[in-house]
Amino acid sequence: MKYDFTSIMDRKGRDAIAVDGLGMNPGFAPDPPKEGFDIIPMWIADMNFPTVPTIPEAIIERAKHPAYGYFNPSKEYFDSIIKWHETRNGVEGLTPECIGYENGVLGGVISALNVFCSKGDKVLLHTPTYIGFTMCMTNNGYDMVLSPLKQDENGVWRMDFEDMEEKLKTQNIHAAVFCSPHNPCGRVWERWEIEKAMELYKKYDVFVVSDEIWSDIILNGHKHVPTQSVSEDAKMRTAAMYAPSKTFNLAGLVGSYHIIYNKWMRDRIIKESSLPHYNDMNVLSMHALIGAYKPEGYEWADELCQVISENVNYACDYIKDHFEGVKVSKPEGTYMLFLDCTEWCEKHGKTIEELEKAGWDVGVAWQDGRMFHGPCSIRLNLALPLERVKEAFRRMDTYVFNA
Ligand SMILES: Cc1ncc(COP(=O)(O)O)c(C=O)c1O
Repeated sequence: MKYDFTSIMDRKGRDAIAVDGLGMNPGFAPDPPKEGFDIIPMWIADMNFPTVPTIPEAIIERAKHPAYGYFNPSKEYFDSIIKWHETRNGVEGLTPECIGYENGVLGGVISALNVFCSKGDKVLLHTPTYIGFTMCMTNNGYDMVLSPLKQDENGVWRMDFEDMEEKLKTQNIHAAVFCSPHNPCGRVWERWEIEKAMELYKKYDVFVVSDEIWSDIILNGHKHVPTQSVSEDAKMRTAAMYAPSKTFNLAGLVGSYHIIYNKWMRDRIIKESSLPHYNDMNVLSMHALIGAYKPEGYEWADELCQVISENVNYACDYIKDHFEGVKVSKPEGTYMLFLDCTEWCEKHGKTIEELEKAGWDVGVAWQDGRMFHGPCSIRLNLALPLERVKEAFRRMDTYVFNA
């Protein structure tokens, strides 16, 4: 590897909820470990790798110029995004006017829904689902209609098209949030699956917000298919959300963007997100994106995908061989594992709370899966050096699942 994916970063006291947030937000954050165990952060969705050096270099370079006044995003910013999508996702014909700044992907999701919906409207969403969707949609008064994903005979999570259609038809739904790749199930949707979903959305006049924040973290040779690329109709009925924040660990810098080809939709969403006067780019965050989307960033992201693939393969094999009663569908993208512990808990007479606590006590800072609509599930973040992943599985084996 050209880049460093093996050093163990000490993030304590360095602005990281992943380690400093333990015990702070019961029900959301894990408890701190008992004496004698250090923290292995495996919960909130950020990474424990130093990011590509071109990012801090770009930030430092800009920071040396001692004026940080009002600014417009530069041509380099738009060109960097256009090239990234062309090279990595085969997107052709993307122009700067289709790209718009969003402070966060979730803010972009809400701005889009505010345009697609009237207050209290129903929005179709698949479960399990990312807690951020649940929170932002609930807080903004949308009525989530949940269509559960189903595991096929090979354990692969699939959309239930019949259920989706039934709900769209009978409940007069005209907006959907689509998560691609899917957090927390890790699906990288195949083209035919996206096509089929988009056909339904066309049939029932549904506008779509496609959250593709995870689209750069694709594992074991899978391929991301942008929702807007599956048909001309999909291109025009979808607002897609992206960011360098998951890929390069930049959440603390803030900065996402939308791609919207439909001019009417784009104008309305830009207007909507401008209303609170909070949706403005930070100059250092702009330079971070430009640093990320430099040639080194392409190489770094490729190496990251290899590292995460290795971690995921290690973890899934370990679970299959050692943790009887724990089920997992191997993720094809993201760095999350979603463990179904139902059978294990039944067999051992334990509750999910007891199981989670046993992990937290020994520093395995994993996350309660119930907030992602997994009734007896745990979400596990594998974006750590493999040595730390191995240590976490050693502790799970010795102190938790086979204690
Ligand atoms: C699917 C998905 N969307 C959005 C976000 C958050 O994005 P932002 O911080 O840009 O709002 C996350 C973070 O984990 C996520 O998993």
